[in-house]
Amino acid sequence: MARWLVLLLFGIGSAALAADPAQTPAAPPPESAIPAGPDGDAIRRGINIITNTSSAAPEFAGNDLRCANCHLDAGRTAGAAPLWAAFGNFPVWRDKNKRMNSFEKRVQDCFIYSMNGKPPPLGGEVLMAVSAYAGWLAQGQRIGVSPPGRGFPAITAPPLPPNDARGKAVFGETCASCHGPDGQGLKDGDTVVNPPLWGPRSYNWGAGMAQVDKAAAFIRANMPLGNGGSLTPQQAWDVAWFIDGQTRPQDPRFAGNLAATRAEHHNRPWSRYGTLIAGRAAGDPATAPRHNVPPGHEF
Ligand code: HEC
Ligand code: HEC
Repeated sequence: MARWLVLLLFGIGSAALAADPAQTPAAPPPESAIPAGPDGDAIRRGINIITNTSSAAPEFAGNDLRCANCHLDAGRTAGAAPLWAAFGNFPVWRDKNKRMNSFEKRVQDCFIYSMNGKPPPLGGEVLMAVSAYAGWLAQGQRIGVSPPGRGFPAITAPPLPPNDARGKAVFGETCASCHGPDGQGLKDGDTVVNPPLWGPRSYNWGAGMAQVDKAAAFIRANMPLGNGGSLTPQQAWDVAWFIDGQTRPQDPRFAGNLAATRAEHHNRPWSRYGTLIAGRAAGDPATAPRHNVPPGHEF
């Protein structure tokens, strides 16, 4: 076969592959495509919960964050745990709670840990609206397949073990201008302009973002906001290590003994919970106040 013909066929072959819906995730639909009627109302209610969590679901939000602070652009951004990439992968087994998790159960967990709040009831209006929105965003995705863009892009291992002094320097140079010199974020009256990274109004010790590897991957891909990918992997690991060594609300699964809670729920190198930082145990109840989850909740 003539060489040009091989190239031509190869070219057509890869173009066809790129357009194959089995290979390329469908783009989530634009907001203008939300249907009129009660189903559209539920979808819009879901968007409102994701983007204005504490005013749209005040009984369940427990800090100054909103879902869209981490699930950027209301859960649309690839590489920032987009909701369209998640929805078709539930129910799924999670080692975190050693059970099969429905999509609603997974959302409950982000309310409990990331939002340091209370779990909205399964089958209730709040979780139904979030599911309606996520399911609508996910139309055209394949069920049971993780499309490219799910979660956070993998980050390479840190060349040097992450370190607080270097992390603090990265924070001061590239993050403090927005997140505040003490990581508490920036407010205009009651409106949160930039979210807090630690302290009593941020995510708690049980959150995914409190694990250094997850935070490093999120930060490397998405921060500084508008300039993701600009930090070196080492800088992302260092600043994530530093942030996830600061004080924050208690892990709701804490049952009175720090070492036991670490052994049961944080037994991995990328959680600093229960380890000594500057002579003090991270997550010590003296610095990590009680959580909001009502007794009787099955984690
Ligand atoms: C230009 C301002 C800006 C800079 C600089 C910036 N951020 Fe952010 N960051 C934001 C905003 C705003 C959000 C919330 C995004 C949204 O709601 O769309 C955010 C969200 C976050 C979150 C998730 C939400 C939370 O509060 O935990 C983390 C973690 C984070 N930033 C870390 C960093 C780190 C680390 C740096 C420095 C490397 C950094 N940011 C630099 C503005 C900034
Ligand atoms: C502080 C950051 C943060 C906030 C705020 C937050 N989440 Fe998450 N969320 C995460 C992280 C980290 C993960 C795990 C991502 C991974 O493992 O790849 C996650 C995972 C998820 C998943 C599963 C994603 C998947 O692909 O399996 C869903 C669904 C979800 N969150 C919904 C929500 C909702 C709804 C809210 C608001 C009520 C919320 N999250 C608030 C950080 C956050």
